[in-house]
Amino acid sequence: MSGQPGPTPIVIADPRQMRDLILTARRAGRRIGFVPTMGALHAGHASLVEQAAAECDDVVVSIFVNPKQFGPREDLARYPRTLAADLALVGAKGAGWVFVPEASTAYPAGHATSVVVAAPAADFEGAVRPGHFAGVATVVCWLFNVVPADVAYFGAKDWQQTVVVRRMVADLAIPIAIEVCPTIREPDGLAMSSRNAYLSPEERRRAVALHEGLVAATERWQAGDDVAAVEETIRASLQSRDIPIDYARVVDPDTLLAPRPGAAAVALVAGRVGTTRLLDNALLPPRS
Ligand code: PAF
Repeated sequence: MSGQPGPTPIVIADPRQMRDLILTARRAGRRIGFVPTMGALHAGHASLVEQAAAECDDVVVSIFVNPKQFGPREDLARYPRTLAADLALVGAKGAGWVFVPEASTAYPAGHATSVVVAAPAADFEGAVRPGHFAGVATVVCWLFNVVPADVAYFGAKDWQQTVVVRRMVADLAIPIAIEVCPTIREPDGLAMSSRNAYLSPEERRRAVALHEGLVAATERWQAGDDVAAVEETIRASLQSRDIPIDYARVVDPDTLLAPRPGAAAVALVAGRVGTTRLLDNALLPPRS
């Protein structure tokens, strides 16, 4: 039947058609998984689609380079666009539908609504990239209305984004479950990211300092070092490869505030390798 997903994903640009297909499938008792993306897909995205396909009857991937989450001096124009390869990848991993809205449908003339998540969006990426998380929350809220799936899948690599999205979903009572999936890494440990494509060979070699710093920090954390010493371990790794640091912090994984004594924490790091900003993080286990 037309509109039913098959091995080659069906590409849909019209939000109303997308929503109708999802609602019809859900009324038929099908569980729908949703993977929101900006395209330029890599093995990290592939793992999200695989997980969604393993847990759901149908999988929808959205591909939309959201202009509202880029600052005026950021890389919107040069952000990689690889639609044909993206469709092949998500089709092979089990996505039946791919939603590719035009910017003019996401943001029609007169668009005037923003979703602003306060506390967890304020620091870290929010401080370095003012307005970024309002752009993310606004588009993700819109996507959740257009793709009313049972569960949405996000990568742990963008840890703060997952905290902001979970906060928004809770605060606005959006009926969707959020699943955070593990970061997928290159063999040397660099977290997969669409922005890795910008790195020169020399920058690519230095970029592993983020992961190495987090590995060393995890060891220090498990050895009982205090938070300041653990943060300093991450900073030292970036400094040793001449990577300017935006932040290297250990915080509570749910609130992004100071970690609670004895509880699990997350180490967040961001640095600039050449002109490319890279992020990574590591979950630090509870300790007595
Ligand atoms: O993580 C991303 O790719 C984007 O921030 C998202 C969630 C698709 C919103 O544009």
